[in-house]
Amino acid sequence: MSIDHYAVIGNPISHSKSPDIHQYFAKQTGQSLSYKTILAEKNDFKKMVDDFFMNQQGKGLNVTVPFKEDAWNLVDKKTQRAELAGAVNTIIPQRDGRLLGDNTDGIGLLNDLMKNYHLQIKQKNILLLGAGGAARGIIKPLLDAEPALLIIANRTVSKAHQLARIFESFGRLNACGFDELEHQSFDIIINATASSLNKQIPAIPASTITNETVAYDLMYSKINTPFNQWCLDNGAKQVFDGLGMLVEQAAEAFYLWRNVRPETHDVIEKLLQQSA
Ligand code: ATR
Repeated sequence: MSIDHYAVIGNPISHSKSPDIHQYFAKQTGQSLSYKTILAEKNDFKKMVDDFFMNQQGKGLNVTVPFKEDAWNLVDKKTQRAELAGAVNTIIPQRDGRLLGDNTDGIGLLNDLMKNYHLQIKQKNILLLGAGGAARGIIKPLLDAEPALLIIANRTVSKAHQLARIFESFGRLNACGFDELEHQSFDIIINATASSLNKQIPAIPASTITNETVAYDLMYSKINTPFNQWCLDNGAKQVFDGLGMLVEQAAEAFYLWRNVRPETHDVIEKLLQQSA
């Protein structure tokens, strides 16, 4: 019996947890599928994608760093959430051979916050740090959850203002630089900057944190990310990293491809055990 083929494409890609996650989902839902990694170079991304769908009969592709914007440009059509995110992380081939691009990162974050950690977004004050691709992908889903206010703060202030203009019709949001956050505190602070990659933290004032503040770093690591550790050191109530978001965005992609929604709790537990 032939099985359906899926893959994740990126660079680097060997560290990706997606093959394991999708195999857990497949086993749990009683399906057989293959899921591999594809390493692409910047100038052969399109060739690799075409080859996967046309020659290998691929049934679905996840796209990760640094190709989410390339995927956005490559697909034939996009969902509204992918259109707004400016990035595509899931490709679904259509019956007519055209490629549909979606973005499941934002819904992945929201599911992790609300379903796994039972955090309420509605009527809360949210601070989003960063104005790159990662931040852009989560703004619309965050606004859909109706926070009292969403502030986008970025090291380069103009980029925060640019994002605020794109999303201003979807909810209450403001943009500012890090130093303008003095004397404001937040219920939830989300770090969508790439600072943790360099073991740095965004230079926000500690006054943004109270003993009720929950921090969420989109990055994940075995030990607390530098940002999460800094939040704890400054009195935050709880900190979470992006492992749950990774599993939740995968679950949403699996659902789009297979029309079955996998359970995520056990998969998150398994990954936590693996990295312990
Ligand atoms: P990604 O796709 O991960 O979002 P990106 O589009 O390159 O990557 O965006 C990186 C984000 O991290 C930006 O918001 C960047 O701030 P600038 O716009 O000012 O460059 C932010 N960032 C990276 N390193 C940072 C640091 N050390 N402190 C604060 N912000 C940082």
